[in-house]
Amino acid sequence: MNLKVDNYEIIIKENLFFDFDNQIKKVYTGDKLFIVTDDNLFKVYEEKLKNALHSFKLEFVVIPSGENSKSMKIYEKVVSELIRKHIRRNQMIVAFGGGVVGDLAGFVAGTVLRGVPFIQIPTSLLAMVDSSIGGKVGIDLPEGKNLVGLFNNPKVVLIDPNLLQTLPVDEYRNGLAEVIKAGIIGDYSILEYLKKHDKLTINEIIKSIEVKRKIVLKDPFEKNERMYLNFGHTFGHAIERHFDYAIKHGIAVAYGMLIALDEGVKRGITKKELYEEIKALLLRLKLVKEPLLVMKDFVSYIASDKKQLSDGLRFVFMSDYEKPEIHKGVIFDAWNYTK
Ligand SMILES: NC(=O)c1ccc[n+]([C@@H]2O[C@H](COP(=O)([O-])OP(=O)(O)OC[C@H]3O[C@@H](n4cnc5c(N)ncnc54)[C@H](O)[C@@H]3O)[C@@H](O)[C@H]2O)c1
Repeated sequence: MNLKVDNYEIIIKENLFFDFDNQIKKVYTGDKLFIVTDDNLFKVYEEKLKNALHSFKLEFVVIPSGENSKSMKIYEKVVSELIRKHIRRNQMIVAFGGGVVGDLAGFVAGTVLRGVPFIQIPTSLLAMVDSSIGGKVGIDLPEGKNLVGLFNNPKVVLIDPNLLQTLPVDEYRNGLAEVIKAGIIGDYSILEYLKKHDKLTINEIIKSIEVKRKIVLKDPFEKNERMYLNFGHTFGHAIERHFDYAIKHGIAVAYGMLIALDEGVKRGITKKELYEEIKALLLRLKLVKEPLLVMKDFVSYIASDKKQLSDGLRFVFMSDYEKPEIHKGVIFDAWNYTK
């Protein structure tokens, strides 16, 4: 399946790995690839990549796995290593990894030598359905996540769902939360499938990508509809902060979606059945457990200043499946005005 976004394609196919060589030749005439990946993936895929990308001379730049690598320190290290390896402006960076590698390598590609082309090869479920789509790349600061970055489109996104065979179960669940979000905001058939199955097929992966792709095409720079993708994330981020990031993002978003649905029910925006159905699904898939996390314990994290507290927030509610609504000036009852 080939999906077009602006001037590049997302190619999704089982065993595409063995066709990566050809696919890259379609967008790149050079003979050298600079592959940015993390140490987990390097261990598993170094030899496989060398075999698959046999037409190219490969230079690997390997970063430690984990969110801490989306930092200024690792950014500088990667850029320096690329310069020492004599990267030139027309040469291609390949981001082979999860969202951490994709976000960092995409930011490096957008800035080293004032920009070199890059390719996304997402290897985690989250990266396949979410982070590799839409062109946002960047790194974190001690002050917060994703505070430095760019909109930078890759030359192509190559997705082989078979790469998920080596993904740890926890990481799979992490991505599943974003798939469920895509189902709620944009394609109910994904949820129908997940009510009966635990493992996704390529079809649900494609459908989830389609949900994000359509939204991003309408609003590439997050002026309006792209905010729908934040459904469940306001409280998801608050929950992550509360637990000092010891909780997985996807799990936090799963609880965050339930809080958003529950709030919607209380305000007469969301149908009660929608909340009950999603709660049952998230419990069945073990993304959440009872007792559920409740809004009042996290509400103090969601406003960063007094102005936000008094003006309220922009918040995504669901009036029904596939019907997200952005509400402005949303104030929460349990808001802690002293924070
Ligand atoms: N740019 C965007 O639009 C966007 C959207 C959502 C999330 N993100 C970012 O994505 C990041 C999270 O991405 P993630 O969840 O993929 O985390 P990650 O990149 O840390 O990957 C998770 C773990 O899985 C391992 N892994 C990945 N693929 C594997 C495979 N096929 N086999 C074995 N191990 C594998 C990695 O080594 C890592 O340990 C966050 O930094 C987040 O901010 C960005």
